[in-house]
Amino acid sequence: MDLGLKNKRALVCGASAGLGLACAEALAREGVHILSVARREELLKTTCASLLELGAASATWCSADITTEEGRKAVFQMQSDFDIVITNAGGPMQGDFRGFKREDWLKAMDANMLTPIEITKRVLDGMMQRGFGRIVHITSSGVKQAVPGLDLSNGVRAGLTGFMAGLARSAVQSGVTINQLLPGTFDTDRLASNFKAQSQRTGIDAQTLLTQRLQKHPAKRLGRPEELGAMCAFLCSQYAGYINGQNILMDGGSYLGV
Ligand SMILES: NC(=O)c1ccc[n+]([C@@H]2O[C@H](COP(=O)([O-])OP(=O)(O)OC[C@H]3O[C@@H](n4cnc5c(N)ncnc54)[C@H](OP(=O)(O)O)[C@@H]3O)[C@@H](O)[C@H]2O)c1
Repeated sequence: MDLGLKNKRALVCGASAGLGLACAEALAREGVHILSVARREELLKTTCASLLELGAASATWCSADITTEEGRKAVFQMQSDFDIVITNAGGPMQGDFRGFKREDWLKAMDANMLTPIEITKRVLDGMMQRGFGRIVHITSSGVKQAVPGLDLSNGVRAGLTGFMAGLARSAVQSGVTINQLLPGTFDTDRLASNFKAQSQRTGIDAQTLLTQRLQKHPAKRLGRPEELGAMCAFLCSQYAGYINGQNILMDGGSYLGV
């Protein structure tokens, strides 16, 4: 299936590992020009080499903290006329809201709500003028069903989702769609560190916690990052122009709502 993405220009944030990398790889296979962003430069270099091998039209990188104004400035100084933007970064720290200070909430809002909004602000009007754009925000299944122990994530991602629901309806008439991908439990470094933190809190070892989680999971397995990457590439494709303002849950059926 030709997704019609050859030579489109993509910005992929958090592109050197996990879900962001999987999105970048899926876009690379479609012949997209990709600018990858993450903080660790060495990983980005390896990422770009592998994206070229997969078929990316070009692969450049910007080593920056995308959750800061300076980081975003560095990215947009390199390029701003993107056809495709995938927003993504690490999630907020775990914990119960009783333990958080105001600064913790502001930091989480900055990273997981205001950063995707700021990036969208930089690219949306240009996309609308050019008549094509695909914006995909990687959020969390916690938007549909709050995840115990992820209070910051549950709170601030809901804010992003509510805002994007309105914005998406104002852009689609100009060929720009905005959607969110909501991962459940995918096999990434981030998930492993979540289990590690939970293990430290509970005293149960991380492998046992994972096994317990999977026993209750309908699919009895973790999601594979490439499954999310493929969905992301489809959402960016020529065929997905009528999918807009959606929160697409990828959790193997964990969420029990209809
Ligand atoms: N994996 C899951 O099951 C799951 C479930 C629900 C939600 N999520 C959410 O999905 C997102 C991605 O998760 P993941 O599992 O793919 O994480 P991951 O495996 O830890 O990968 C995160 C990627 O983002 C980059 N990154 C992190 N913070 C950044 C920053 N401030 N600026 C620029 N790049 C940054 C990392 O590289 P550097 O460290 O070098 O910057 C890395 O490339 C997170 O927000 C996470 O909370 C994941």
